[in-house]
Amino acid sequence: MGRRIIVTSALPYINGMPHLGNLVGSILPADLYSRYLKMAGIEHIFICGSDQHGTPIELSAIRNNIGPEKFADMMHARTKRALEEMECDFTYYGKTHTEENKKAVYKLFEALDRNGYICSEEAVQAYCNFDKRFVPDRMIEGRCPYCAGTHARGDQCDDCGKLLDPQEIINPKCSICGKNEIEFRSTTNLALDLPKLSDGIVGFVDRIKGNISKNALNKTTSFVELGLKPRQITRDLKWGFTVPKKGFEDKVFYVWFDAVIGYIGITNEWSAKESEAYWMGSDTELVQFMGKDNIEFHTVIWPGILIGARQGYALPARIMVYEYLNSGKMKFSKSRGNGLNIENALEVMGAEQWRFVLSYLMPETSDTELSEDLIFEIVNKIMNDKIGNLINRAIVISSRNKTLLVGESVSTEIGNKLRTVLDGYVRNFENVKMRESLRCVVELADLGNEIMSAKMPWELAKCNDAEGFSAVMNDVLHICKYVGVMLWPYAPKAGSMILQNFGIKIEPQFGMLEDSLGFIPNNEPVQLFSKIGDKERDALMGFR
Ligand code: 2FM
Ligand code: ZN
Repeated sequence: MGRRIIVTSALPYINGMPHLGNLVGSILPADLYSRYLKMAGIEHIFICGSDQHGTPIELSAIRNNIGPEKFADMMHARTKRALEEMECDFTYYGKTHTEENKKAVYKLFEALDRNGYICSEEAVQAYCNFDKRFVPDRMIEGRCPYCAGTHARGDQCDDCGKLLDPQEIINPKCSICGKNEIEFRSTTNLALDLPKLSDGIVGFVDRIKGNISKNALNKTTSFVELGLKPRQITRDLKWGFTVPKKGFEDKVFYVWFDAVIGYIGITNEWSAKESEAYWMGSDTELVQFMGKDNIEFHTVIWPGILIGARQGYALPARIMVYEYLNSGKMKFSKSRGNGLNIENALEVMGAEQWRFVLSYLMPETSDTELSEDLIFEIVNKIMNDKIGNLINRAIVISSRNKTLLVGESVSTEIGNKLRTVLDGYVRNFENVKMRESLRCVVELADLGNEIMSAKMPWELAKCNDAEGFSAVMNDVLHICKYVGVMLWPYAPKAGSMILQNFGIKIEPQFGMLEDSLGFIPNNEPVQLFSKIGDKERDALMGFR
């Protein structure tokens, strides 16, 4: 059997709309990679979904005066719609608060418990006597004992940055009810016994070290070298899956535990049968995409869960981690309502423009800066002036002079060049370097434009030089067809629009480039993209 791949993107929290940093840092690269696998004819699924549990979501629900499940489902629906508008082509976009995920979580938890990898830990936790509930550290507010600032929270002071214990806070208040009826109670939580799983985890890290981003490997190694400690997997909260163990029934699983297992739960929700074939298949490669704040959960805790449970699920074969896209003067923030998120970004410009810009700047090896000027440069000068212009000029001039266009073969020189650039493109995708692959598309557009400018086919047409005209335009049209296929993962609509001029009406595959050219004259101008101007600049400025 050939390769079978599960592609996943980190499941976004949906207490706010995911912002452009979330998109570029895991969902978009996963989508590009999955589209590449489609073009290469490699069997795969692309799984993602909404991470619906956790305190911030519970809090937002309280603030919005609705139940957490209702709130989480509403935000899930909005997020799903916006991601689809961004042309993210999931096999399945699910969510974590489902019966299927609960079953998957219970199955793994019970196996871990049976196999002796669950221990318990006692801790002191804030309890609000007014709300009659435990309050998470982050939701305790008050004065900082170090700088006396008034923006201290139970885990950290937002004024001086010092990490805190909730008990250190002066005059602690509950941020749910705003009252200071806090007492500290001791509570016992269940934990994943990482020290016992340490050999398995170290072995796993060693096996995949060639297939994991450098930053992820460094972070993981230093995390493991510090010595693994038990990791709590339950919390004294209400919103989440209740814990199926005697004495712990009034607690829920910690959001991270059911989020990583959510990859399996969501695949089960899509299709129980297919899910088993993929997750339990001996040839399955699990390729996971995520931002750098998710590293240790995927390189240590998640494999720890899978190894300890011994259920035969595939372990990650490749872990791709992205750096941050800094928004410069514009704001991405999820917490602030006005940040540039995937929903309001689409009101500024189209999905294909965002996908292209974000891919062009994809923070693969270091943090990257996004600015209004860069957005303008990429959309207007690269997408429009280079790619859009080439395609439009080539199709229009070939169509207008179709009687002069004879044969459809490509010259040896350009044929070789196309194969070399395509090889580089494929190699980059295989190495998950999508930013580089996009450079290959631009390189071909440059080549096409250079040929047009140097050989001036319109002059050849004027003197009815069919042979000269065909020699130039068949080369250029071959370049356009390659551009159509190679652009498709980044800008699927534009890619398909180009390929229709070559009779291709379905999703492209690399094999199609070996067929004959198949150019169909078309008398309409081909408007692939549009330029952006003052209106878009004003809209972007609105996010400063
Ligand atoms: O950072 C986040 O948005 C997390 N919700 C990612 C979870 S990834 C996986 F565990 F699902
Ligand atoms: Zn309270």
